[in-house]
Amino acid sequence: MRKLLSCLFVALCGFTGIAGASSGGGGGGCTPNAPWEQWHANASVTSLSSLQRGARNYVNYCLGCHSLQYMRYSRIAEDLDIGEQQAKSNLIFTGASIHDYVKSAMPAKDAEEWFGRAPPDLSLIARARGADYIYQFLKGFYVDEGRPTGANNLVLKDTAMPYVLANVGGQHKAVFTLQKCVENGEEKMVRHFDGLETVVPGELSEEEYDGFVRDIVNFLQYVGEPVQAKRQRLGVWVILFLVVFTLFAWMLKKEIWKDVD
Ligand code: HEC
Repeated sequence: MRKLLSCLFVALCGFTGIAGASSGGGGGGCTPNAPWEQWHANASVTSLSSLQRGARNYVNYCLGCHSLQYMRYSRIAEDLDIGEQQAKSNLIFTGASIHDYVKSAMPAKDAEEWFGRAPPDLSLIARARGADYIYQFLKGFYVDEGRPTGANNLVLKDTAMPYVLANVGGQHKAVFTLQKCVENGEEKMVRHFDGLETVVPGELSEEEYDGFVRDIVNFLQYVGEPVQAKRQRLGVWVILFLVVFTLFAWMLKKEIWKDVD
């Protein structure tokens, strides 16, 4: 009996061992892994302070290249509860008036010549690509000496955008390993992404940098649909009103039925 059990045990171990080896050794598909797809922005347009920080980060680090052509400074100031004077001194560096649209000072033609691709307007980018995409894109830059900008991107391979947040977020090296895989009976090699390694630390810690990027993403999410910031804040008051109203209605009902009962 004992012999039989140990035989079974060995057979079982052998079987799981083989199964484990085949999955680890690349018996699976040949689609490269993309763990950054699991990085979530957890964006929330209800946090006014995050939106204010996002607006500040945007004008400092993005507006040099990317316009928000459907958005006026005055609207941002009003929605985000930034005083007109404060908006003028903290958001407007292009000499624009507070009633102007948020336009980059860089002529599109020059930009295209310099970068090979014109930086797109970002008014609707959050609606087009989703908040998580922007988050993954901004966090996906890594050092690549083979690129004219010195940087490449996990999400948008060979992107023309330089890594403009290098000082803040630090420089990272992407670690790839080549792994064997089998597809349609053919053996192939695929590039497996193992993670980012910090080469030069940035001004912010990793956690602070995540927050910094999240604020920008939140801001772009708001820009994509400006009423949502107000609507969500208003929603809290509507629900509060309904709760209070229900209480009053119940008290009124009790008062009226008191005599009947
Ligand atoms: C020096 C100019 C420059 C600055 C500053 C800049 N970008 Fe870009 N950005 C570009 C260019 C050029 C592209 C086009 C990239 C491409 O298509 O490969 C781009 C593309 C993008 C895209 C679109 C990616 C896609 O999938 O099409 C997003 C989103 C973006 N930038 C966000 C930002 C944000 C947010 C900031 C500020 C933190 C920023 N950019 C700052 C030049 C810039």
